[in-house]
Amino acid sequence: MKLLLIGSGGREHALAWALAKSPKLTKLYAAPGNAGIAEVAELTDLDVTDHQAVTGFCRDKMIDLVVVGPEAPLVAGLVDDLDAAGIKAFGPTKEAAQLEGSKAFTKGVCDEAGIPTAAYGRFADVDAALAYVRAQGAPIVVKADGLAAGKGVVVAMTLEEAEDAVKACFEGTFGAAGAEVVIEEFLEGEEASFFVLSDGKNALALATAQDHKRAYDGDEGPNTGGMGAYSPAPVMTDAVVADVMRRIIEPTIATLARRGTPFKGVLYAGLMIGKDGPKLIEYNTRFGDPECQVLMMRLDSDLLDLILASVEGTLDAAEARWKDDAALTVVMAAKGYPGAYEKGTEIRGLKPVGSDGPAVFHAGTKRDGARVLANGGRVLNVTALGETVRAAQESAYRVVETIDWPEGFCRSDIGWRAIAREDKN
Ligand code: AMP
Ligand code: GLY
Repeated sequence: MKLLLIGSGGREHALAWALAKSPKLTKLYAAPGNAGIAEVAELTDLDVTDHQAVTGFCRDKMIDLVVVGPEAPLVAGLVDDLDAAGIKAFGPTKEAAQLEGSKAFTKGVCDEAGIPTAAYGRFADVDAALAYVRAQGAPIVVKADGLAAGKGVVVAMTLEEAEDAVKACFEGTFGAAGAEVVIEEFLEGEEASFFVLSDGKNALALATAQDHKRAYDGDEGPNTGGMGAYSPAPVMTDAVVADVMRRIIEPTIATLARRGTPFKGVLYAGLMIGKDGPKLIEYNTRFGDPECQVLMMRLDSDLLDLILASVEGTLDAAEARWKDDAALTVVMAAKGYPGAYEKGTEIRGLKPVGSDGPAVFHAGTKRDGARVLANGGRVLNVTALGETVRAAQESAYRVVETIDWPEGFCRSDIGWRAIAREDKN
């Protein structure tokens, strides 16, 4: 099969690496890709916001399947346009991608299906929002409704912070994403990410992970797209997974199917596991980045087979097998990220990703002749397996040591929560 992969992050490098292992794959294109993806795919500088150009490319190259990595093309309706052109695509339609694109949409699904989530109010008016915040008190969570690249959420520990966040939203800090705000009850517990695959009717549990959203050690500093992750998440025991499938995932899939807008693709549930059981924080409609990197390291099944089962509606007969080992990934970012950072600095000491052993997945990189240059905020994902999270962590940081990139930085404590738990047991 000939595939086109859309995206350029570490997530897409991990997907490309996993897809390249499938005996069914004959050719992989990636748009736009990066220097690591180029090890297994032919890069094309196709403008993915131009859906006609994408369909044209697919016809021209006789692409059998398009795999969409990031959320923006999903929310923009790329899968709808490919479907309309008779080209198979993996990922949700524009309407189903509203589970990620609009927090208010997701809350509506939760109400309709009785899914456990934080109590909330939704406001298009600053005074009403402020009155609600004052009535509820702090801690409280203020969210811009639309896509704000993970930056539209303020967990306010004081009333003043909450009021400032509401005002900032309506003053246009998040652009159109902040035209409406969702104000939520503060949930206590441990966060985990859970990934499932759906074909519109059936849901297949994939695996669990934990992300590290803050830029610096000790979970300090600004929020980022994710500075490291590990899988599995110890808090997600088999019993919790079963509970989440029954009370959160299956009702969501059933509700979207009943509405006539079935969800196909990867559903990524951000969960809070607290005293009264798991609650949904949010949905994403794609693999997480960097969570995908640890999932792909642990996956023992053919990724292409699973994706085809999602596209073709045969997930009820599919099975996903995972290594028992833990996987851990350390993100190396350009100094300054998530604020301003320099591009174009040289990275030395990189080795191509092999079929086993630790893997350095590329995110923001590009090739300049024989040199690899940093080309983004998050740049490399050093990923390793181990019998324990601690062993995976040691292995990943050993590889970090071999990478010569003075302009980069990483956290030194990825996995700390799981390791503390391992040490206690
Ligand atoms: P979101 O973009 O909705 O995932 O929110 C970003 C982060 O804010 C989450 O990963 C949580 O750490 C935190 N968060 C969001 N909603 C809540 C909530 N209701 N209670 C506590 N923390 C939250
Ligand atoms: N790592 C968080 C995300 O992909 O949304």
